[in-house]
Amino acid sequence: MMFSDRFAITLSDFNQEFFDSLDDNYQIKGPALGQEQYFHTILVDGLRAGVVGYLPPRNVLLDDAGFVQIVLAPEFRGRGLIGPIYELLAERHGLKTLYGTVTKKNTLSLRAHEKIGFRLLSEEKMADLRRRGLLGEDEVRLEKEIS
Ligand SMILES: CC(C)(COP(=O)(O)OP(=O)(O)OC[C@H]1O[C@@H](n2cnc3c(N)ncnc32)[C@H](O)[C@@H]1OP(=O)(O)O)[C@@H](O)C(=O)NCCC(=O)NCCS
Repeated sequence: MMFSDRFAITLSDFNQEFFDSLDDNYQIKGPALGQEQYFHTILVDGLRAGVVGYLPPRNVLLDDAGFVQIVLAPEFRGRGLIGPIYELLAERHGLKTLYGTVTKKNTLSLRAHEKIGFRLLSEEKMADLRRRGLLGEDEVRLEKEIS
């Protein structure tokens, strides 16, 4: 459990039914790829507040890195929950580097990630990823090291 300013946050097991009922759940691709074990239902003061998880990189040498994905239920957005939720996720799975892939037009998510210390990769690195088919033309990649 972790406490943000006002909320007690826990990560429980992934629940497909709750995930299916969540607005904007298309932002989370892991469960459809059979990676449910890396995903959780977020509980805030005991209420189901969203889903968070990550996809492990294909390169097994990067076993402490993850491509994070999060969707909060609308009534839990805008309360600064994203930071403590990612901290819990990193702690639970021993992640040291978090990567985020955000659609350029999702400026709200971009700002939310930058506010908690995610940094955009350089244009050069992103161009290289796009050339290799690892990042969409309409997406950006962010990175955060966990201290
Ligand atoms: C992106 C998301 C995870 C951010 O988490 P969060 O805990 O809401 O982040 P923050 O509390 O920092 O709020 C982010 C912004 O939302 C704004 N906001 C406030 N109330 C809101 C509400 N009811 N609904 C949506 N956004 C709201 C905040 O003002 C803030 O903008 P600001 O930084 O300019 O003030 C969350 O908004 C979400 O689940 N969005 C839908 C799914 C999605 O886009 N996921 C990310 C895919 S990359």
